[in-house]
Amino acid sequence: MKNPLIYDGDMMQNDLRKIYDRFAETYEKNRGSFDMTEVIADFSKRLPYKTGRLLDLGCGAGEPFPAYFIGQGWQVTGVDFSQKMLDLAHRYQPDMKTIFADMGEVDFPDAQFDAVTAIYCLFHIEYQKHEEIFLKIYRWLAPGGHSLFTYATQEYTGAEVFNGTKEFMGEQLFYSHTTPDNLFATLKSTGFTIESAQYRQIGGETFLWVTIAKPG
Ligand SMILES: C[S@@+](CC[C@H](N)C(=O)[O-])C[C@H]1O[C@@H](n2cnc3c(N)ncnc32)[C@H](O)[C@@H]1O
Repeated sequence: MKNPLIYDGDMMQNDLRKIYDRFAETYEKNRGSFDMTEVIADFSKRLPYKTGRLLDLGCGAGEPFPAYFIGQGWQVTGVDFSQKMLDLAHRYQPDMKTIFADMGEVDFPDAQFDAVTAIYCLFHIEYQKHEEIFLKIYRWLAPGGHSLFTYATQEYTGAEVFNGTKEFMGEQLFYSHTTPDNLFATLKSTGFTIESAQYRQIGGETFLWVTIAKPG
């Protein structure tokens, strides 16, 4: 049996899944407090295509990114490991294809997507596993494709490098990140061009919003 006093990423992941199952409805009701209007506008203006194929990792209830892109005529695939979140996604975004999976383990054929988003979710995975995910995103993107993700930093956790829990909506959630410099070095070594990295305060929380592109 695993000792709960020793940090264990897999154990944290299981807890996280249960927590998202538990507060899916409440999370969705409060989602409007985190206004994505500017983020969506900034990302969509960088995309070379008007419509295409979007993969949304950690899609939750399918709002607001999948909802926006489906409205623009995109084919959207959402991945989430909370069945309760996906139940809500089926209700609100019936046109989104959903995959019940861990975003650290899911895989797709090469060049399947024109855009990949990971909104408020990559920080729930140990930063030591991020490089592997970036390599996959790079492979899944068609040349010229773009990706946007939210990255936790010291502004959110108080530490330069963090692997631990923080309170969110009354629950202790697992968060993980390294420094922005380490992140940028990893992205560049993966092959990505960093198009934009911007701190945004949304709903009282500050995260780094990063847009990267696979050269065309
Ligand atoms: C803060 S919510 C964000 C949901 C949505 N992207 C949004 O913008 O509202 C985080 C989501 O990521 C999902 N998630 C967290 N870790 C995951 C993992 N390893 N694999 C798949 N989904 C994960 C959770 O179940 C939850 O739906």
